[in-house]
Amino acid sequence: MAQIFPKWTNKLPPVVAAAVVFTLLMVIGLFWWFGSPKYTDVGYQPVQPIPYSHKLHAGDLGMDCRYCHTGAEKSPVAMVPPTQTCMNCHVLVLPESEKLLPVRESWSTGTPIPWVKVHKVPDYAYFDHSAHLRAGVGCASCHGRIDEMEVVYQAETLSMGWCLECHRDPDMSLRPMDQVTNMSWTPPADQREFAVKIKSERNINPPTNCSGCHR
Ligand code: HEC
Ligand code: HEC
Ligand code: HEC
Ligand code: HEC
Ligand code: HEC
Repeated sequence: MAQIFPKWTNKLPPVVAAAVVFTLLMVIGLFWWFGSPKYTDVGYQPVQPIPYSHKLHAGDLGMDCRYCHTGAEKSPVAMVPPTQTCMNCHVLVLPESEKLLPVRESWSTGTPIPWVKVHKVPDYAYFDHSAHLRAGVGCASCHGRIDEMEVVYQAETLSMGWCLECHRDPDMSLRPMDQVTNMSWTPPADQREFAVKIKSERNINPPTNCSGCHR
């Protein structure tokens, strides 16, 4: 009987096996790398120059987010408040506090407090707070329970897949406008019907095409 396969093909199985193993390792490696908190930045919690607590101010004292983050509803950036906002209260509240010394120094010298940025999307992706708040998306959908954080950390991946997941189906994240800063809001049973109504009323249509976010 004539030989159908040339002799060198006897070596093929080990080569194929090696290739399969190599590919598998690559795939596992990629998943591990892209899925790891280091890559996605979930849990990123830099040390801040002052032990300012959202749990105390936004949680226990119940201050509205927009008292300090004045840009959130009006502009692309939510903005971190200037020292003056702190001194509105801290001229009178705990004026001798050791922990507030850097705040008083910043106030008297006019040097801004060097807060460390926590959330960041790359410059090639466009993000706008006001567009989301006008649609009724709440802070907690993207930042988690800030009112329970002593020190702010990143709660969501902020990856492209994460943005798109909501853009494809935003229904469960659309709230009545007066609930956007409510940290404990949860969608009611008739949320889907509410979303259908509100999407046509507010003309809500999140972009899923590339140029919507990469302008
Ligand atoms: C009294 C003023 C004040 C109030 C009220 C306040 N914040 Fe902040 N917020 C700050 C300051 C100052 C920082 C910067 C220091 C830090 O990260 O803790 C900050 C940081 C943040 C950050 C991280 C910013 C970054 O660098 O990525 C988020 C998100 C945030 N606040 C959300 C909220 C939300 C949501 C609320 C309402 C539940 C709120 N804040 C209420 C003062 C305030
Ligand atoms: C609406 C008033 C108000 C504003 C505005 C405010 N705080 Fe406070 N802050 C308080 C109160 C009330 C306390 C708690 C006082 C107490 O424990 O008796 C406090 C406590 C603190 C403490 C703890 C001090 C200590 O010695 O225990 C720090 C630090 C602090 N605030 C930082 C800030 C910073 C930074 C800002 C500006 C981003 C700010 N606060 C804005 C009312 C305010
Ligand atoms: C749809 C998601 C989303 C919602 C809703 C949202 N944020 Fe953000 N926030 C982000 C992203 C993404 C960034 C990083 C933006 C960047 O790097 O340009 C950010 C950054 C911030 C920062 C850092 C300063 C800045 O503006 O870049 C603060 C403060 C902040 N958000 C507060 C808030 C507050 C307060 C609310 C609610 C009133 C809110 N955010 C609602 C996604 C969101
Ligand atoms: C929880 C839901 C949710 C998440 C998460 C979210 N978005 Fe959106 N986004 C919306 C909704 C709803 C709209 C629609 C606004 C409208 O049509 O009025 C929108 C609109 C937009 C727009 C169009 C705004 C304009 O001015 O044209 C851009 C750009 C955008 N989102 C970027 C992003 C990026 C980038 C991320 C991730 C970092 C992100 N979004 C995460 C819900 C979300
Ligand atoms: C809803 C907003 C949104 C849309 C729509 C979107 N992107 Fe992105 N894209 C992002 C964000 C945010 C990032 C940054 C993610 C990060 O930092 O991990 C990104 C990152 C990327 C990157 C860099 C990836 C990397 O690993 O660094 C590429 C390439 C890209 N997008 C291509 C596209 C293409 C092609 C489309 C259309 C099919 C698209 N994007 C649609 C928000 C979007």
